[in-house]
Amino acid sequence: MQTTSATASRSQELMQLEDQYGAHNYHPLPVVLSRGEGVHVWDVEGKHYFDFLSAYSAVNQGHCHPRIIGAMIEQAQRLTLTSRAFFNDQLGPAEKQLCELFGYDKALLMNSGAEAVETALKLARKWGYQEKGIAPNQARILVAEHNFHGRTTGIISFSTDPDSTGGFGPYMPGYQVVPYDDLAALEEALQDPHVCAFMVEPIQGEAGVVVPSEGYLAKAFALCKSHKVLFIADEIQTGLGRTGELLATCYEGVHADVLILGKALSGGVLPVSAVLARNEIMLTIKPGQHGSTFGGNPVACAVLRAALDVLQDEHLISNAKALGEVFRERMRRIQARRPEVVELVRGKGLLNAVIIRPSVDGRTAWDVCVSLMENGLLAKPTHGDIIRFAPPLVINEEQMHEACDIIEKVILAF
Ligand SMILES: Cc1ncc(COP(=O)(O)O)c(C=O)c1O
Repeated sequence: MQTTSATASRSQELMQLEDQYGAHNYHPLPVVLSRGEGVHVWDVEGKHYFDFLSAYSAVNQGHCHPRIIGAMIEQAQRLTLTSRAFFNDQLGPAEKQLCELFGYDKALLMNSGAEAVETALKLARKWGYQEKGIAPNQARILVAEHNFHGRTTGIISFSTDPDSTGGFGPYMPGYQVVPYDDLAALEEALQDPHVCAFMVEPIQGEAGVVVPSEGYLAKAFALCKSHKVLFIADEIQTGLGRTGELLATCYEGVHADVLILGKALSGGVLPVSAVLARNEIMLTIKPGQHGSTFGGNPVACAVLRAALDVLQDEHLISNAKALGEVFRERMRRIQARRPEVVELVRGKGLLNAVIIRPSVDGRTAWDVCVSLMENGLLAKPTHGDIIRFAPPLVINEEQMHEACDIIEKVILAF
């Protein structure tokens, strides 16, 4: 009893520290984690949970994967950072692996997802001026309504989420928002000859796992082609097996002109992101025109290579496809039993969402997540009524059923 209250107060103490000394830019669930392995995480009291968020799809390969951690330790003991002022023996092999796996001429490594998005936008503008012949400073980039591409001042300039934009103006010009999953609106916007690129998430993750109509991506890609406009796929959240294919765009046979990757590119071990493109696009940027001190550092490269190897060697992509079916089937059965609680189940592979109807006594998706937490499963609500379920792709069928049993128990009791 004494131990329990002492450790429980440790949790309180740590949450209090964050509250007092940390910026209040997140609203976490009240759980303090100190260890992770595979699909599980443990709190400071030693209680274990299924992690059904996977750090917003960064931990696709599972927590602390021994091969990835091993690669990181081995490299960290030899050489961590050279900057790009010199060559290092890790960058070239990592770039080669990326280009060969995804089918591009060149890769440019950065750190966070937002930095890679900024890189893609800069590349698109340069290409627009140099290759498409757009008049100086007139380039426009199309983006989709309800997009989420990161938090920099440039990126929030085309966000349609008031939480992302409010109070952070002035905003950067040169962007136009078109409705998501609306080909007619895209085609109309593409008439403007100043448009150099259309950037899109193949599934809108942060918006609540919004899956566009079948054929949308392929047709949007074809429209871009016919207007000499680059198709930029932001696969930071959807890529690397998350949706049951290597990339979500693979479902429609789309090979984006510019591909943006992040998150699981390091298996959630450290920030590693990349932009891939063919020579005609990538070589518009010359030495001194773009860069990052840590981008392409030797540790990041070693980790990236191990993370890609794990994804392939452990067949995580086909696992995501198969267990995604199991998950949605289980959720649909729960929905059939409790339609007054579960409004909708949607997703692809292991990127899924369950939409919760608010209860008559005002309880919401947040309350479901708190109850899930108390029952040993961590997930986070988004936009008030949507719960995203995205476990590490290393989850096995038995674990999936165990996790679904927890969700079923919580929803039936809601
Ligand atoms: C599609 C997409 N793009 C970009 C980002 C930004 O990545 P980061 O948080 O690493 O900057 C995210 C993060 O959730 C994302 O989901």
